[in-house]
Amino acid sequence: MTASGLLGEIADVGTDGKRGGYSRHVFDAAERELRTWFVERAQRIGLDIETDSNGNIWAWWGTPGPDAVVTGSHLDSVPGGGAFDGPLGVASALTAVELLQDKGFRPAKPFAIVVFAEEEGGRFGVPCLGSRLVTGTIDVDKARALRDPGGVTFAEAAAKAGLDPERIGPDKESLGRIGRFVELHVEQGRGLIDLGSPVAVGSTVIAHGRWRFSFSGQGNHAGATLITDRHDPMIPAAETVVAARRLAKTLDDARATVGRLVPTPGGTNVIASTVDLWLDARVPGDTRTIKLVDELAEAARAAAESEGCRVEITRESYSDDVVFDQALRRDLGTWLGNPPELPTGAGHDAAILAGFVPSGMLYVRNPTGISHSPEEFAEADDVEQGARALAEVLEKMSA
Ligand code: GLV
Ligand code: MN
Ligand code: MN
Repeated sequence: MTASGLLGEIADVGTDGKRGGYSRHVFDAAERELRTWFVERAQRIGLDIETDSNGNIWAWWGTPGPDAVVTGSHLDSVPGGGAFDGPLGVASALTAVELLQDKGFRPAKPFAIVVFAEEEGGRFGVPCLGSRLVTGTIDVDKARALRDPGGVTFAEAAAKAGLDPERIGPDKESLGRIGRFVELHVEQGRGLIDLGSPVAVGSTVIAHGRWRFSFSGQGNHAGATLITDRHDPMIPAAETVVAARRLAKTLDDARATVGRLVPTPGGTNVIASTVDLWLDARVPGDTRTIKLVDELAEAARAAAESEGCRVEITRESYSDDVVFDQALRRDLGTWLGNPPELPTGAGHDAAILAGFVPSGMLYVRNPTGISHSPEEFAEADDVEQGARALAEVLEKMSA
C-alpha cells in the first residue's frame, strides 16, 4: 500500500479534541493501537515481529542477524502533534519493503524495520528513550524511575504493557545486529521549501537538551496578600521565560523554548506555591548550549532571590552535536541523484544510533515548514517519492 494510504489507516487514532492534532504517548491506548496496527501491517507483508526488552518493535524481513540493514522511526507524538513526525518514517518503511517485494527483490543481508518507543519524550520527559536504552546512553535506574504527569513510572507503564522492568536497559544484541540505519522523516523546518527537491539527505543535528526549573515560594491569597508581602514563584518563572529568549538572541543560531509551565496549585485567585517550567535549549556547538543554560540558570537564581523564592534546576536530557556518517551520506546522495543535504535542529533516534553505528536520514519536504503542530504536512506526491527513495537506498544497502 502507498505510504499515504497507510497514514490514512491511522488518521483517526489518537486525535486530540482539546489540543488539535494527535496525542499519542508511549504505552497509552492510542500508541498501543498504533503498535497493533504496525504489527498487523508488517505481518501481512511477511515480516516477523520481535519486541525488545525496552519496548522497541523490530519487524524482520528474513532471518535476524548481524550487519542488518535497518530503517524505521517512531509512532508516538508530542502533545497535539502532527500526522507525519514519526509515522511517516514507519509507513514509508512498510511501503518501501512492499515496493521491493513487488519487483522480486530479496535482501542479501538481514533486514528490519524498527519502531522506537517514546521518541518525543511526550510522556516520560526524555526524548529518544527507546534508542537511548538500547545503546546504554541513559542510566537504567533513572529511566525506570522517570514519571509521567500522572505519577506513573516508566517501569510501571512498561510492566503494564507486558515488558519485564528488570530487563529494561542496554541491549547489546539488538544494537549489535544493526549494520547501517536509515530513518526517513518529515522535514521539520523550512529547509526544503525553496530547494526544488522533495527529498533531502540529513547532514547534522545540533546539540540539544531539556532542563527543569522548579521555583518555590509561598502559596497565598490573590486578593488579601499585598504585593510587597509576596513570594510568588510565577515572577521568577516569567522572568526566566523572557531571559531565555534574550539569551538565545545573543548567540548565533541558538534556540531556547519554554513550552511547558505548570503552576501548583493552579487557581486564578491563588498565588502559586511552586512553578515548574521546562527549558528546551539547542545551540550548534555543544559547549554553547551548556553556556546558554548556565547563563539562564544565573538569571533564574537572581530572579528567584529578589522575589524571596528558591529555584532548583535539573538536567533531564542532553545530546551533543551529531554529524551523520560521511560515507553513508555520500552513498545516499549518489543513489538518489545528489539531492540537497540539510542540517536540522530536531532530534532523532538516528542521531542517538549515530554514536554506535553508521546512521543517516532522509527528509521529505514539508510545505508549511511547521512541525510539532497539527499544521505539519507533506504532499501525497512527495510522500510517495520519499517512500520510493527509501526503497532505492534500502535495495542498494541490502543487495
Ligand atoms: C523531536 O522531534 C525533537 O527534536 O524534540
Ligand atoms: Mn518530533
Ligand atoms: Mn520524529
